[in-house]
Amino acid sequence: MMRTRPLKVALLGCGVVGSEVARIMTTHAEDLAARIGAPVELAGVAVRRPSKVRAGIDPALITTDAMALVKRGDIDVVVEVIGGIEPARTLITTAFEHGASVVSANKALLAEDGTTLYEAAERHGRDLYFEAAVAGAIPLVRPLRESLAGDKVNRVLGIVNGTTNFILDRMDTAGSGYSEALDEATALGYAEADPTADVEGFDAAAKAAILAGIAFHTRVRLDDVHREGITEVTSADLASAQKMGCTVKLLAICERAADGLSVTARVHPAMIPLSHPLASVREAYNAVFVEAEAAGRLMFYGPGAGGAPTASAVLGDLVAVCRNKLADATGPGESAYTQLPVGAMGEVVTRYHISLDVADKPGVLAQVATVFAEHGVSIDTVRQKGRQDGDGEAALVVVTHRAPDAALSGTVEALRKLDTVRGVASIMRVEGE
Ligand code: NDP
Ligand code: HSE
Repeated sequence: MMRTRPLKVALLGCGVVGSEVARIMTTHAEDLAARIGAPVELAGVAVRRPSKVRAGIDPALITTDAMALVKRGDIDVVVEVIGGIEPARTLITTAFEHGASVVSANKALLAEDGTTLYEAAERHGRDLYFEAAVAGAIPLVRPLRESLAGDKVNRVLGIVNGTTNFILDRMDTAGSGYSEALDEATALGYAEADPTADVEGFDAAAKAAILAGIAFHTRVRLDDVHREGITEVTSADLASAQKMGCTVKLLAICERAADGLSVTARVHPAMIPLSHPLASVREAYNAVFVEAEAAGRLMFYGPGAGGAPTASAVLGDLVAVCRNKLADATGPGESAYTQLPVGAMGEVVTRYHISLDVADKPGVLAQVATVFAEHGVSIDTVRQKGRQDGDGEAALVVVTHRAPDAALSGTVEALRKLDTVRGVASIMRVEGE
């Protein structure tokens, strides 16, 4: 039976994502009503610039007073696609107080202070859904929160930022410059309002915090995630990766420690072999592997950014939340019962690819190898090439076996102190083998 009284939706933000949410709500109104069991009505749209022309949106719905909109009391669902910490956090908690459930795409806020949001939702008996906050259109949050709720997840690894994947892909395959590729990603609506969040790894780290929290049923905040962006990845790194049969990707890796007593979460560029499925993830696409005890290895792949793909995830949540409203029920809340501590980066076991500029003279290779041995780091391969200009220097590329990150960084520190090491040209972790 279709209920005739519509469910009222307040849209906070009408930019890249919000405008697509409004468009799909209008064009698919009948299907959405049939799937939910009641029509959904756009009851108000909060923006910063009211005079901006917004195609397909009744100007009477536009307001700059987002707080008044969420306090109206007749709003069933608030869709928050403003972004940032404030006023988004206060608007969401106020929406809960005034009877609305919330759908949000705001990974920055969820990673910074998800606990406040979860607690407010629970206190007022409302839903908090956020599929769009991680990996754009890809269903990943709901599979982790619901489909895998009976399994034990041990590892989540993948590409979760479309902008940086787009930039690295363009640099690798089209020879584009870094700035040119970033401008293109911004024009396509992939980048955050401040693209520093993308290129410095904050956006991916926020997503890693969210994924680690729901995968391991514990609390992981943005500050717990080791973070390195792509601003120091050079064309030389990409060329060096190609020589090794690899490419460079910005990876988010969340792992349960082998003893099961802690977890780690990290974001950094890494070399991965071309044979690995993540190597063929191009443009702004995302892909995430989830390794669970009983399910084994699952791969999620799809568009990770952009207005329409992200709106798809928002609309999926909107349907779920509206159905819950009609059933007078709520979906899953926070599950953080394991209270596992988050370990430091030094505890992570990984491999390094290190490029050194060294003096081209007898005994240097042995000196370098000794430093690795002293730190308990085993060398996998070494490649040395004397420079053509005969300046007495050689380029030495060392790839290690797996070792704790603390031992690897200690090795690099000691190498820098050798007189015969003129410089450390690049250090990159190697993953995916
Ligand atoms: P935009 O910058 O394109 O849009 C932001 C919108 O919020 C604009 O309509 C802006 O108004 C409005 N706004 C900003 N501040 C206020 C305020 N104080 N009161 C009322 N309205 C305000 O951002 P996106 O659409 O790209 O991103 C929105 C959210 O979705 C972010 O949390 C982002 O991280 C997330 N997200 C984005 C994805 C993407 O591919 N773009 C993918 C996944 C998630 P005005 O139009 O007047 O400027
Ligand atoms: N800026 C983000 C990205 C948007 O590039 O992945 C999607 O979360």
